[in-house]
Amino acid sequence: MRKTMVAGNWKMFKTAGEAAILVQNLEDVAHDCADDAEVVVAPPFTALHSVKTVIALDKPQITLAAQDMFWEEEGAYTGEIAPRMLTDLGVAYVIVGHSERRQYFGESDEVVNCKACAVFAHGMTPIICCGETLETREAGQTPDFIAGQIRCALKGIEETCAVNLVIAYEPIWAIGTGKTATPEMAEKVCKDIRALVEELFGETVSARVRILYGGSVKPENAALFFAQPDIDGALVGGAALSVEGFAPIIKAARK
Ligand code: PGA
Repeated sequence: MRKTMVAGNWKMFKTAGEAAILVQNLEDVAHDCADDAEVVVAPPFTALHSVKTVIALDKPQITLAAQDMFWEEEGAYTGEIAPRMLTDLGVAYVIVGHSERRQYFGESDEVVNCKACAVFAHGMTPIICCGETLETREAGQTPDFIAGQIRCALKGIEETCAVNLVIAYEPIWAIGTGKTATPEMAEKVCKDIRALVEELFGETVSARVRILYGGSVKPENAALFFAQPDIDGALVGGAALSVEGFAPIIKAARK
């Protein structure tokens, strides 16, 4: 009952033109797999318009996401992007609290919460990222650490919004490193996240919330993650930058 989401996070890669070509080249596979996979792409801000234009013209079954957003309506916030700037471009999902934002730009759990609330307030859906460092994992603190991140990120969010929520579990030590969590390790954390969502919002919500795995997802391992009962898709970085990498991951979601 939860549709698998295959989301490509293009990070700081691709010009507007390159992103438009890539999304065009993904149209066929997204169309063929549309019954089983919701395909999402998150280009950099500067490519949102060109990708939106392709989507508006060709109507592929691909949904537009942004990689970040500021929570204020507008104002003197040099370099930031407001919610309305994204809704205006047809953005449906916003990645919030990616570990690279936390690590390089100092985003705290409180900032992640402000952003998540603002995304919902503007009728979009956050893809809230969480994940532990290798140090935290080795100290046996992963469950508490992830629970802390999620509890804080979801503070003040209404049940009616939470039901649409997407959470991405991305162990930091697996991002861009070629190391993946085993499907069993990832499933364990995703199962714990679902139990926490149930504690916070009840069973109906927890049964509908989609939980993605991210961290070196590749054509060779995607199906193993998708087969786990509490993993509802993937947030893909490096492998989502080419059709050769991304298309087989989308196909792996086919039932
Ligand atoms: P990766 O990135 O697939 O390159 O490890 C995942 C992510 O950061 O979302």
